[in-house]
This record gives sequence, structure tokens and C-alpha cells, in this order.
Amino acid sequence: MDRMTKELIDELSLKHALSKPQYLRLLEGRDDESQALLAERASEVRRLVYGDEVFVRGLIEISSICKNDCYYCGLRASNASCERYRLDPEVIERCADEGYELGFRTFVLQGGEDLWFTDERLGEIVRSIKQAHPDCAITLSMGERTRESYQALFDAGADRYLLRHETADRGHYAMLHPEAMSWDNRMRCLRDLREVGYAVGCGFMVGSPYQTLEHLTTDLAFIQDFHPEMCGIGPFVPHHATQFAHEPGGSVELTLYLLSILRLMHPDMLIPATTALGTLDPRGREKGMLAGANVVMPNLSPVGVRKKYELYDNKICTGEEAAECRGCLSMRMLSVGYRVVVDRGDRRPYVPATTS
Ligand code: SAM
Ligand code: SF4
Ligand code: FES
Repeated sequence: MDRMTKELIDELSLKHALSKPQYLRLLEGRDDESQALLAERASEVRRLVYGDEVFVRGLIEISSICKNDCYYCGLRASNASCERYRLDPEVIERCADEGYELGFRTFVLQGGEDLWFTDERLGEIVRSIKQAHPDCAITLSMGERTRESYQALFDAGADRYLLRHETADRGHYAMLHPEAMSWDNRMRCLRDLREVGYAVGCGFMVGSPYQTLEHLTTDLAFIQDFHPEMCGIGPFVPHHATQFAHEPGGSVELTLYLLSILRLMHPDMLIPATTALGTLDPRGREKGMLAGANVVMPNLSPVGVRKKYELYDNKICTGEEAAECRGCLSMRMLSVGYRVVVDRGDRRPYVPATTS
């Protein structure tokens, strides 16, 4: 590690912010030694805020039907080989009931942009789950909707919303999406979600096609400024039936490096060790924890549909029952010194340690 990189890590650890040129320099200074130092500093501050606790979110993949055509995603509308399904509301509610028994206190309802899920239908599902489990949080991850729609779902009881910004660079966004999708609308959605009152999650893929270190720097500056409650990053993983089928997957090491930077930037942020990280590296999620993550999102979807929710190739956990994934992840977290807890897992305040 060169001297400048060490100084930048010191500054980030102390001030929890850097300028754009500094972030770029920090990314350029990545080597084994700087990676290890960043992870150590990120773990220290993570322990200060969240101790050894790991929050779990039960992920229910409610529909593989999508009207959009994001170039990178296996669920894109023009992928004719994708088997489509939509879970009935009763099935979704049963998944949540089963999850509750397993100790989940947050449910994430995620899906493609499926027009069947109107505000009325989705709102009714949110209301039913909340009524059955008032001590739980509900997170939605159903893509871009109108402000009125976000408001209606919030009024129905949804607490949080995940919508990755995908890339904070307008030009890069246009390389990953068709013309019908706009960077401006994505940013409008994130602003609306915040103003409506949700805890908001953004995020991006690491190593998405055409991505440069400058793009990643723009992502970091955006996240520093927006300070989302949650931030999900995972490596890009190619899907065989997309135009990016032959692009290389993202780097696990770079993902971990960025994860540590995010933890140091916003010590209170809820940061998952993602399934994509676990797909590219058998110990990816454990490494994610050691780099500063504090959330995991095991799958609660019925086993019969899991393989059909194929965003990318070789996605893990498609054959296991909910209880198996939950048990497996608990063991994995214990193996690196962390403990899965029964908790809604809301954001906690960061109180810097004082030196006297
Ligand atoms: N449709 C909603 C949306 O786009 O926000 C929610 C579901 S979408 C499948 C969730 C996330 O999966 C996206 O935000 C994207 O970052 C990620 N994703 C899609 N294709 C991927 C790929 N090939 N590799 C890694 N992540 C991918
Ligand atoms: Fe649809 Fe989301 Fe996939 Fe885009 S990333 S095609 S919106 S499911
Ligand atoms: Fe799903 Fe290990 S987390 S099988």
C-alpha cells in the first residue's frame, strides 16, 4: 500500500467522507494490504454500531413477470426463455407466516415490474401481513412507480423500499437500459420514496458492463450525499439469455473493497452481504460480513418457483427450503464471529467513540 492510500483510509475512518478525486485515488490504490486495512477499520466501526449482530430479511420473490428490459437481467421482458410466475396473495402471506416462525421480523417483497400488482392488490397484501405480524417491517422492492403509488403503499403499512440506482452516471445508465427507462425517473423515484417517509435503499452492481472506476467514484459520491438507510451492492453476474451473456462477472475483491468504503462512509447504513456475492464465491457472504456488511437476505420463496427467478446464472439457494437457508446462514455467520438475531433490524444511530 502506498502512503497516499494509507492517508486516505485514515481520513475516511476519521471524517467518514472524501471528495470525488480522493475516492478515485482510493480505488486506484487497491491492493491486498489496503483491502485488509479498510476491512479492519470497517469492522471496527460496524461493531461499534451493530456489535456482532446480523439482521436477516426474508426475501419473497413475488413475481418473475417484468415489463422492463434492463439489458443485464434474466427477467427482462424480451427473454422468451424465462419461465414466468406470479405468487397468489395467499401464498405470499403463507411465506411470511412461515418466515415468522423461523424468526424473521422483516419481509422483503421483491419482483419484476408486474402490472398485476396494482396499488390495491399490493396494498392489501401489505395490510394482511402487517395485521398478522404487527411487530414486523415490510420492505418493498417492486421497481419504479408513481409517487402516488409509493404513498398508497406506505399508507398500507410498507416501511422500507429498495430501488438500486444501478449507476449514478447518466451516460452509463443509458448503456445498461433501453431508451424507455431513464436515469432521471430512477432518481425521481428515490427522492419521492424518501419524501413519502420510507427507509430507502439504493445500490449498484460492481463490474456491470462498461463500468469504469470513475463511474464507481460517482456512485460513492452520490451515496455519500444521499445517505440512504440501506445500500445493496453485489457483483454483476452474467445471464446466458441477455446481451451481456459473454461479459465477465464483477470482481468479488472489488465488491468487498467498496463494501468497506461504504461502511466507513456511513457507519449506520444497513448493508447486505448479497446473494450475488455468495454466487461468485462460496464464502462470499462471510467475506462480506468481514468487510463490514451487517445484513443477509435468505430466500423465503416457495422452492417450486425459485429457479424461475433467475436474474443471473448459477444463482445459489434455488433448491433449499426456507428453514435450510436460514439455518445455513446462521452457521455461516457464526463461522466468522457474527450472530443472526431475531429483530426488525432498523437502522441504529452511530455515536463516534470519544478519545479522552
Ligand atoms: N425489478 C425490481 C428492480 O429492478 O428494482 C426489483 C428486482 S431486480 C431483479 C433487483 C436487482 O437485481 C436489480 O436492482 C439489479 O441490480 C440486480 N440484478 C439484476 N440482474 C443482475 C445481474 N445480472 N447480476 C447481478 N445483479 C443483477
Ligand atoms: Fe425487471 Fe428489475 Fe430485472 Fe429490470 S432489474 S428487468 S426492472 S426485474
Ligand atoms: Fe441458502 Fe445456504 S443460504 S442454502
